Amino acid sequence: MAAMAPLRNIVILTGAGISAESGIDTFRSAGGLWEQHRVEDVATPEAFARDPDLVLRFYDMRRAAIQTKAPNPAHDALARLDRNWDGGLLIVTQNVDDLHERAGALLGISGRVLHMHGEHLNAWCTACDSRPRWSGTLIDRPPCPTCGEAALRPDVVWFGEVPYEMDRIHAALGEADLFVSIGTSGAVYPAAGFVRNARSLGARTLELNLEASQGSRWFDETRLGPASELVPAWVDELLDG
Ligand code: APR
Repeated sequence: MAAMAPLRNIVILTGAGISAESGIDTFRSAGGLWEQHRVEDVATPEAFARDPDLVLRFYDMRRAAIQTKAPNPAHDALARLDRNWDGGLLIVTQNVDDLHERAGALLGISGRVLHMHGEHLNAWCTACDSRPRWSGTLIDRPPCPTCGEAALRPDVVWFGEVPYEMDRIHAALGEADLFVSIGTSGAVYPAAGFVRNARSLGARTLELNLEASQGSRWFDETRLGPASELVPAWVDELLDG
């Protein structure tokens, strides 16, 4: 029997489910964010062009809300993995909150957390293309700190826009021995396709989610339960194993 290849390189994809127990609404559950808002009204470039006040107010509320939340044991466990894993590790998050960073998983912009859908705590100046850190509101059309134009929008990737750093993500998927998906419904591409990319390039695939996702059949193993329990247990296994 061929020996199993040593496990060195890990890619982890996280979604709204990892932040649910921190009190941040997921998108597609009953009572979730998209139930109260039509996606097309708040999360598309067309919506922003049509009714910028509505969109800016929505994101101002979300930006304020995440600042009152704290990381949960799932974020803490990934931070522990980050500190202790000598091999390759990339945490690709679809989340625009900063709970991975606050749990200590981020070592800086070139670190091991990548926000493929942008960040609530960044603004993006559509006049000069700068991305200032931003914790306040945008509805009042503040001037860009770099160029002075009142042209700031949320630095969040809307439907119809291209996610960030896809080249880096695909390179990491190509090297991955293990791909782990945590707390994501598998409804939104390209992230929903990462499991198949990783699998076809030779990675083992593991899903940790509250319920079976749309992509469950693509995973070698699925563990169902709350992220605050499943993720620390998996990290213990990995670091002790
Ligand atoms: N622990 C683990 N998983 C959970 C938990 C929990 N405590 N609570 C909910 N989940 C799971 C749900 O079962 C669901 O499968 O997390 C998933 C959340 O799915 P979505 O709400 O669809 O969120 P996500 O997959 O991150 O959405 C992807 O869609 O709207 C866009 O840009 C937005 O980044 C977002 C993208």
